[in-house]
Amino acid sequence: KLEAVIFDLDGVITDSAEYHYLAWKALAEELGLSFDRAKNERLKGVSRMESLEIVLEDSGLHLSEKEKLELATKKNENYKRMIERITPADLLPGIGSLLDGLQARGVSIGLASASHNAPLILERLEAGHWFQAVADPGSIAKGKPDPEIFLLAAEMLGVDPMNCIGVEDAEAGVRAIQAAGMKSVGIGSSDQLGAADLLLSSTFELSTDLLFGLFNRQ
Ligand code: G6P
Ligand code: MG
Repeated sequence: KLEAVIFDLDGVITDSAEYHYLAWKALAEELGLSFDRAKNERLKGVSRMESLEIVLEDSGLHLSEKEKLELATKKNENYKRMIERITPADLLPGIGSLLDGLQARGVSIGLASASHNAPLILERLEAGHWFQAVADPGSIAKGKPDPEIFLLAAEMLGVDPMNCIGVEDAEAGVRAIQAAGMKSVGIGSSDQLGAADLLLSSTFELSTDLLFGLFNRQ
């Protein structure tokens, strides 16, 4: 029986993935490094410091840990200025009615985001009331594609991972869901998310019936 749906945040609940992209792009440009959307795909779902390593790869720059921390902080300060603009109107299409529908059918709802800014974004969206569990990325050892954060959310909800569906827009995220033993829904393109059990091009296509159908199919 479908007990819970566990969501990624950035790029699934709201379009903050775009702000992450813009903030990394601004930092890369400041450093004179090339950065495009293809490279950005590799950053989705990946922690702040791991993302910085990907931005810096092939740069020839040799930075100390302190300098790296300063760059990551600079990106985050810029990102935080961008997310201040988020309002409840920024829930992605279909998300509000999906969360209402799941709640009405007694399905638990969890969040498994690698972002330390997730609680702030939920607050800006006024979306916190839908989530019975928000897994803290600060309390896990391994990020996506490791299943840890999805397993933590399931544990917080008190549900069996086998009875969960995970929803993600990142390749690393879909791999994490699958490694957790959950059914996976990918929001995006087959180039990155071809492995998902169900691939949708937009959150608009999500529905409670679709998720029950996915869970109940053999
Ligand atoms: C999510 C996003 C990543 C981001 C990570 C850390 O996984 O998809 O793009 O790097 O969270 O976010 P933070 O807000 O803590 O820097
Ligand atoms: Mg995401």
